[in-house]
Amino acid sequence: MPYSSGTTGLPKGVELTHSNIVSNITQLSPEEINYLQETTKEHQDVIPVILPIFHIYGLVITTILTLLRGCKNVYIPKFEPKQFIDILVNYKPNVLFVAPPLVLFMTNQDAVKPEYLSPVRDILSGAAPLGAADEQRFLAKAKKNITIGQGYGMTEASPVIALTNKKKRCPPGSTGIPVPNTEFKIVDISNPNGPSLGPNQTGELLVRGPQIMRGYHNRPEETENTITDGWLRTGDIAFYDDDKNLTITDRLKELIKVKGFQVPPAELEEIIRKHPDVLDVGVIGIPHKLFGEVPRAFVTPKPGAQIKEQKLQEFVKDKVASYKELKGGVQIMDRIPKNASGKILRRELKDLYKKIEDKS
Ligand SMILES: *[C@@H]1O[C@H](CO)[C@@H](O)[C@H](O)[C@H]1NC(C)=O
Ligand SMILES: *[C@@H]1O[C@H](CO)[C@@H](O)[C@H](O)[C@H]1NC(C)=O
Ligand SMILES: *[C@@H]1O[C@H](CO)[C@@H](O)[C@H](O)[C@H]1NC(C)=O
Ligand SMILES: *[C@@H]1O[C@H](CO)[C@@H](O)[C@H](O)[C@H]1NC(C)=O
Repeated sequence: MPYSSGTTGLPKGVELTHSNIVSNITQLSPEEINYLQETTKEHQDVIPVILPIFHIYGLVITTILTLLRGCKNVYIPKFEPKQFIDILVNYKPNVLFVAPPLVLFMTNQDAVKPEYLSPVRDILSGAAPLGAADEQRFLAKAKKNITIGQGYGMTEASPVIALTNKKKRCPPGSTGIPVPNTEFKIVDISNPNGPSLGPNQTGELLVRGPQIMRGYHNRPEETENTITDGWLRTGDIAFYDDDKNLTITDRLKELIKVKGFQVPPAELEEIIRKHPDVLDVGVIGIPHKLFGEVPRAFVTPKPGAQIKEQKLQEFVKDKVASYKELKGGVQIMDRIPKNASGKILRRELKDLYKKIEDKS
């Protein structure tokens, strides 16, 4: 039972059955989406396990799937640049299952020498989108034909929903077609129960298949809001082309993705609201060169109180896992934008941040 914040709110236990997980692994069998080479007397793929196994990707893909296929797994207790580079040098991995920040790390760090990448045959990137330009920059550094696949999934789907074809080049930015036995539809975000939309039309992605969770543990209401007639609301905005290749364009759900990890803004807001000088707060994710996104807090102090950015960052740091820290900074505001029923309008905070960034 891994945890996920779903489309809103605090983390919830995701009930994945044995059947969900076995189904998802079986859905990854077709030749054109199988990134692992068969284990024989002469060959065994070596896989560094970088994402922790409390993360659905580290658990089902980099551990269960690879063990089933007879790979040799090299576990890293915690990602440390030097240790990762040592593994490249000493274990010569063939396949890297990564999130985009690790591709950026390998591209940008001089300590990762191109020759260290020579045993690498395939890379599968997931947990957040990897840009086409970032992919090209990595390949230019590696000076080698490495197949880079992209996957799309979520904890609630055990996790894989779609994967790019290994042999045929997918359109840039696309995550390929859904894995076998997976249905999808795109619906109007303002009318999710209305008719589904056709090719090239952007809306919320809904998914149905044997890998979809049973529900959120002890949260019947949230389960009901997320799954209708077996269709899972992904909270992601997407479109598909005439061949049903899916492209994810935006996120409707609120979670922030730091190095591929979920950071639910509501969790940070709850912590920050406990600070004696804070009247109100709203948290969003802002873009970060290496981590993908990082959390930034917009804070309204209590009358007469003063809030120092660094002090508030330390206050949060003491209470959360390191990837949840306020690395995106703190901004003081007179008022947090909300709609009439008190819902924080994170979109407005994002627009405000973007305006300030564009100016500087
Ligand atoms: C790299 O892969 C592409 C596409 O599969 C192929 O056309 C090309 O010849 C390969 N280049 C090298 C150097 O192997
Ligand atoms: C969809 O992706 C496949 C590769 O998997 C590619 O051959 C095909 O041209 C793509 N379709 C469109 C409409 O771009
Ligand atoms: C979708 O967009 C592609 C590329 O712009 C175009 O070739 C195709 O005809 C469009 N399909 C539909 C059904 O509109
Ligand atoms: C405020 O937003 C919430 C969540 O999107 C929505 O359910 C509610 O109807 C909105 N209230 C108003 C008055 O717009």
